[in-house]
Amino acid sequence: MTPDPRDLTLLEAAALLSGASEWDSRALPSRGVRSFVLSDGPHGVRRQLGSGDHLGIAASEPATCFPTAATVANSWDPDLAEEMGAALGQEARALGVDVLLGPGLNIKRSPLCGRNFEYYSEDPLLSGRMAAGLVRGIQSQGVAATPKHFAVNSQELRRMASDSVVDERTMRELYLTAFEIVVREAAPRALMSAYNKVNGVYANESHHLLTEILRQEWGFDGMVVSDWGGSNSAPAAAAAGSSLEMPAPGLHSAREVVAAVESGQLSREQVDARAAEVLAVAQTAPSHGDRPVLEDRAHHDLARRVAEESIVLLRNEDAMLPLKPGTRVALIGDMARTPRYQGAGSSQISPTRLETLLEAVGETELELVGYAQGYHRDGRLDPDLCREAVSLAASAEVAVVCLGLDELCESEGLDRSHMRLPEAQTRMLAEVARANPRTVVVVSAGSAVETQWEVHARAVVHTYLSGQAGASATLRVLTGAVNPSGRLAETYPVRYEDHPVAAWFPATGEHAVYREGPYVGYRYFTTTGTPVAHPFGFGLSYSTCDYSDLEVDEQGARFTLTNTSQVDGAEVAQLYVRPPGGLWGPSIQLKGFAKVRLRAGQSRRVYVPFDRYTFRHYDVGEQAWCVEAGTWTVRVGRNVEDLPLQAQVEVEGTHPQPATQELGAYLTGEVTQATDAQLRALLGRPLPVARAGGELGVNDPLSSMAQARSLLARSVVRVLNRRRARVEAAGRPDLNILFLLNMPLRAMAKMTSGRVDQAMVEGVVDIVNGHLLRGVRRTTMGYLRNWRADRATRRELSGR
Ligand code: BGC
Repeated sequence: MTPDPRDLTLLEAAALLSGASEWDSRALPSRGVRSFVLSDGPHGVRRQLGSGDHLGIAASEPATCFPTAATVANSWDPDLAEEMGAALGQEARALGVDVLLGPGLNIKRSPLCGRNFEYYSEDPLLSGRMAAGLVRGIQSQGVAATPKHFAVNSQELRRMASDSVVDERTMRELYLTAFEIVVREAAPRALMSAYNKVNGVYANESHHLLTEILRQEWGFDGMVVSDWGGSNSAPAAAAAGSSLEMPAPGLHSAREVVAAVESGQLSREQVDARAAEVLAVAQTAPSHGDRPVLEDRAHHDLARRVAEESIVLLRNEDAMLPLKPGTRVALIGDMARTPRYQGAGSSQISPTRLETLLEAVGETELELVGYAQGYHRDGRLDPDLCREAVSLAASAEVAVVCLGLDELCESEGLDRSHMRLPEAQTRMLAEVARANPRTVVVVSAGSAVETQWEVHARAVVHTYLSGQAGASATLRVLTGAVNPSGRLAETYPVRYEDHPVAAWFPATGEHAVYREGPYVGYRYFTTTGTPVAHPFGFGLSYSTCDYSDLEVDEQGARFTLTNTSQVDGAEVAQLYVRPPGGLWGPSIQLKGFAKVRLRAGQSRRVYVPFDRYTFRHYDVGEQAWCVEAGTWTVRVGRNVEDLPLQAQVEVEGTHPQPATQELGAYLTGEVTQATDAQLRALLGRPLPVARAGGELGVNDPLSSMAQARSLLARSVVRVLNRRRARVEAAGRPDLNILFLLNMPLRAMAKMTSGRVDQAMVEGVVDIVNGHLLRGVRRTTMGYLRNWRADRATRRELSGR
């Protein structure tokens, strides 16, 4: 029987608010409270039994590696995400995991964010709906899901020491709406706060985000868990609505909570409310019961189906694809032998099996002429490899060239520095295509890339990061066993420089200012008429589909889809709305979609209902969601640039205040031209001012010690940077070093299982700032004090 937190001592209740180890919550055996297990992650279960780490470094138990979120998003199929979620939930149970740390649903603000492969889309509706599907599936198995990272978390550089400065309307309409959808539609039992600050306050301490919006507005009643090492002040977090500090900050954290109650800074009721949220998860933890057997065979097949539904056909000139049985194929590219199928970092798991194109091609009716490596994965140019690929291509009917981003390009902890594929790959492709114009490119990348190289390909199949069964899924698309139906969940700009955030992403200082406001992704490109390589929602199929007979009323839109081909297929019908025009903002926004299966020649009437998100905007003056009254345009079609159906609907609502001309560029969407004065008008407050030099503080990242007064501190950074460069030269990211460099000094007190407390961190900061004696004294005294206090706390908790 789980106790009522009010029956616990204050220390016991406070102790529940932080973890006991890398993956375990704290138990209170004398009170019958058992611990529960949290584990990553979003596209597979990363259960570590030995030494734990949150960076995907140490080994984990084998589990099915499903396609990553960026991939699954292209299916536009929340039911499929739900099926995948149920499989994840089952595997979590089989591996003794109670809380799965995912899905990740941050909005793709820039194509260069290193973690985009873990996120769904640049659009909140698509992100929210896909995440809701996954959460429903995970939780159908009794495992708690943890949507993350709440909120406004868009870059990896300085990821724990960055302040996202964003206007309230943009925050609500873009960055929070995806979370709102997942909370309202799927009732996740947990949620992870982000590392960053939002408008000056740590996300994990934001009363506005965690209490006013998440709990009060959306009705979330679950457990908020900090990101690993992301908590700052334990009492401030509890007061704001955050329940559990992870991983294991140590008992000093519980003592800080007790002290805050005793000094009146925090109430006992607040502590009890947070403890109750943790206890609710402990009480229902499935790992306390029987464990099912991991269904690896069936889940491998499901991983293949998810990949098949998510692969995007970007180009198919002269109906180059599908390839007929018996086609003599040359397979070219290192990624055909060593696939890129998941990203690096905390989401990285050990797959139960791993297919490769080179092996799987033997199971098709294609005739393999040969394989050539084509390029070095690390980008080194090699004319010999290129020559070998060219001569192999010349001897085949079709060259299938496998390109992609290498392991270093996409990783937690590291933003990409450009949007191109490595030159070693694109040069080789050009030469292969010259030798054999019947060239098909298979791309593996978890994020958008520039596509100038596409002119060399008759067909392009984008697999994203398609999980452990991605190779057979790709071959089924290439041979027509599967008719591709994936559609891009993000825009492909012609050049990175065309992207609205190109000039200010990632922020290198403490403030990441979201200067572009709401003009993110297609919202920018469509409003300003900037040409793109592939628009949001784009993708081809071997079938063709006609749209007709749109009818719209206040409840929703009805239209007819007709498969006008000889091939069975699926269409992703997309519904966008354009507001009456009284309110400034993006010209068009996605408000509904349906993935519809159609046999050859079949017609179907499709209904897309409107909902609370369709016509609303956030009115900053009113501090409320409002609907603009007037004639709205509803458009339906294949992608944001191809919307053959259009109708008007009268909507009741209010008339927004005329926009102030001070907003300037924000009125037209030309946000790359926005001045500081216009940005100030958007924010409704002065721009943040960066702290001027001076001594470093507990919240500065380790990387800033490069400017420290202490020679020792500067040397530490130099050594870390050198080591980072060495490992990266070998083509791998060093996640440990990246984490350390981006880590604020205070995190030492949060990630050392209690060996270091806040007072000791302040001693370390003294040393860094050149006050050696004072620093050493504070650190040593702090160590002794903390050690003694821990002993007493342990005794008190065990009732001795
Ligand atoms: C990541 C989270 C992850 C956690 C635990 C953090 O570094 O940001 O997404 O769930 O580690 O591994």
